[in-house]
Amino acid sequence: MTISNDDELQALKDIGAIVARALAAMGKALEPGMTTAELDAIGRDFLERHGARPAPELAYDFPGATCISVNEEIAHGIPGERRILAGDLVNIDVSAEKDGFFADTGASFAVPPIKPRVERLCRDGKRALWAGIGQVGAGRPFAGVGQAVGRFAEKNGYTLVRNLASHGVGRSLHEEPAEIATWPDHRERRTMTNGLVFTVEPFLSLGADWSDHRQHDRWTLYSEPQAPTVQYEHTVVATPRGAIVLTLPG
Ligand code: CO
Ligand code: CO
Repeated sequence: MTISNDDELQALKDIGAIVARALAAMGKALEPGMTTAELDAIGRDFLERHGARPAPELAYDFPGATCISVNEEIAHGIPGERRILAGDLVNIDVSAEKDGFFADTGASFAVPPIKPRVERLCRDGKRALWAGIGQVGAGRPFAGVGQAVGRFAEKNGYTLVRNLASHGVGRSLHEEPAEIATWPDHRERRTMTNGLVFTVEPFLSLGADWSDHRQHDRWTLYSEPQAPTVQYEHTVVATPRGAIVLTLPG
């Protein structure tokens, strides 16, 4: 969506803070021995107590309130009986709706003991996200986001998953503009218009450059080739002064 007044901006800030705080609560609760269903319940409870509805269920009949993806899974993992183990890399993606407005955020968490290369990957996944957000602004090219993230990844020896793109958001979970690359894409010619709401969510990896389904469900996406992969995501608004980041805990 494109924001046209302060009420819309405030409504997006409200749902943005709710998903951010739900994500933080889940990250804090994360511990070895719990199942991903138990972790999801913490997110659902937080969202519902704040008057928000989980977007994956609402929009796609996804079987869970949040997406929880462990190790070889990198996106759209279904919460269930899988137990989180020491040393796991867990991605939590929280998106929700309140009063007709949607926000989307995500982060990867490493469960101790953390290997140094995974600790570095998590730190750099956040830096890659902010390199992309630094290119956001009204009148600026979308291609700048993918170029900045791509430069960061190349300089630091990482790969990027090249088929999980960012997207417009606001009045629904996924809307125009669709398929915003967070990797260098010479075909990208679009410009960010003033007030446009979208996500920035690069997938930084120690070797994967693709994601794919496997046989057993139609949701979970796996890293290809299999390698530790992180995703950090914010919902932003393009303004003449750069990005407003909506999904901060506030
Ligand atoms: Co998300
Ligand atoms: Co998203």
